[in-house]
Amino acid sequence: LGGRTAAAQGGAPAVSAAGRGAAEALSFPADFQWGCATAAYQIEGAVKEDGRGETVWDVYAHTPGKTTDGGTGDVACDSYHRYQEDIALLKALDVKAYRFSVAWSRIFPSGKGKPNQKGLDYYNRLIDGLLAAGITPHMTLFHWDLPTGLRGGWQSRDTAYAFADYAGFIAGKTSDRVKHIMTVNELRCFTDLAYWNGNKAPGLRLPMDEVNQVRHHGVLAHGLGVQAIRAQAKAGTQVGLADNATIFVPAIETAEHIEATKKAMREENAMFLTAIMEGRYIDSYLSAQGKDAPKVQAGDMEAIGSPLDFLSLNVYTSNTVRAAATPGGYEILPHLANSPRMASPWLYMTPEALYWSIRSVSELWQPKKLYISENGCSADDPVAPDGKVYDADRVTYLRNYITHLHRAVREGYPIDGYFLWSLMDNFEWEDGYTKLFGIHHVDFKTQKRTPKLSADWYRELIRTGRLV
Ligand code: NOJ
Repeated sequence: LGGRTAAAQGGAPAVSAAGRGAAEALSFPADFQWGCATAAYQIEGAVKEDGRGETVWDVYAHTPGKTTDGGTGDVACDSYHRYQEDIALLKALDVKAYRFSVAWSRIFPSGKGKPNQKGLDYYNRLIDGLLAAGITPHMTLFHWDLPTGLRGGWQSRDTAYAFADYAGFIAGKTSDRVKHIMTVNELRCFTDLAYWNGNKAPGLRLPMDEVNQVRHHGVLAHGLGVQAIRAQAKAGTQVGLADNATIFVPAIETAEHIEATKKAMREENAMFLTAIMEGRYIDSYLSAQGKDAPKVQAGDMEAIGSPLDFLSLNVYTSNTVRAAATPGGYEILPHLANSPRMASPWLYMTPEALYWSIRSVSELWQPKKLYISENGCSADDPVAPDGKVYDADRVTYLRNYITHLHRAVREGYPIDGYFLWSLMDNFEWEDGYTKLFGIHHVDFKTQKRTPKLSADWYRELIRTGRLV
């Protein structure tokens, strides 16, 4: 670091033709869909407004001790009222796409029954505003805010039918303008973490047979939702889901470890993505669960395996895998004490996850099209005296992950877009407002949004279409 570069000395940097080629190789296709993502309960606020019904997250966040700082989504980023300001933020970044979620309980306050026009009006305003700004909407129908009117929640099979009715209804109303619809977000989070680990709403710790049934109702809701959307949406509507499949990276890129990585991906996601992509529960899952395996009715697996137009992946972190003489043929290596992590303790910095998630799902199931529907990180984000957040660590995280995304693009995997989580700081579920993922800082007292360094960096990436 002692010497100065030719460029720093004012001279032209000596770049060989091969060097220039390498720089150009980090360019993304001109039509690559750069975007940002958010979700209803995390940003909207206005929980009692215009007929919105209560959800499991309203109850959970208001239960003392459930969120770290006692935070709730009551106000959050107040985006219900400030959505135009948020569209302006998106426009200033020059993103091509925005992923948001619809709050089911704004449309059907108790989960089913008579639709609430005022709730629908809000999403119509949002969608029309995005389109007027030249931003493509990608719409998620369920991002965990389940109406409490649906008795039994995901323990009840009826919830899957209610979801399909809601999905078909909203697709019918918006698909003249919204061409990308995702049924559900992160199956594992609203099933396992909510009904087994108990740290997401409704916060239960059920026995395994009941957990498996909850999981089944989750994938069934997705499948019935796909069918309902296809029945009611305008031609040309593309349907998928946003899943947080558990991701694996080979210890070393040799044929045996790569093979082990694929095996791990298929096995460890057996109850979610594998079931959806293959339309069945694989034998190893069913035999491992034994009498606790889900109870499946005729037609369920066909619905669950409904063909998709695209698959969207939420990618944050991964585990390392090596080939091993185990029944599955792989071993998942533990994270080491000094492995780098971001502010959330679960968020190990593993940039290769972005490449290996895309490659593994492509080799296993050949999805027609892929998106990264979420990637981003929490960081400490101190506000500097000039009022700005210089989140250099988030920039490092993003630059590294997107470098590995580029590898997937370069190798020809059908990846069409990337959504950064998140447009702005917001309610981070059980962490309340103690873990922030935004590239815009939000002052929750004044609701002022300020671009962080990472927003400047992302804008530059979008402007140049390249990483260097
Ligand atoms: C995934 C979830 O979809 C989103 O709601 C959450 O805020 C981010 N991960 C960060 O944890």
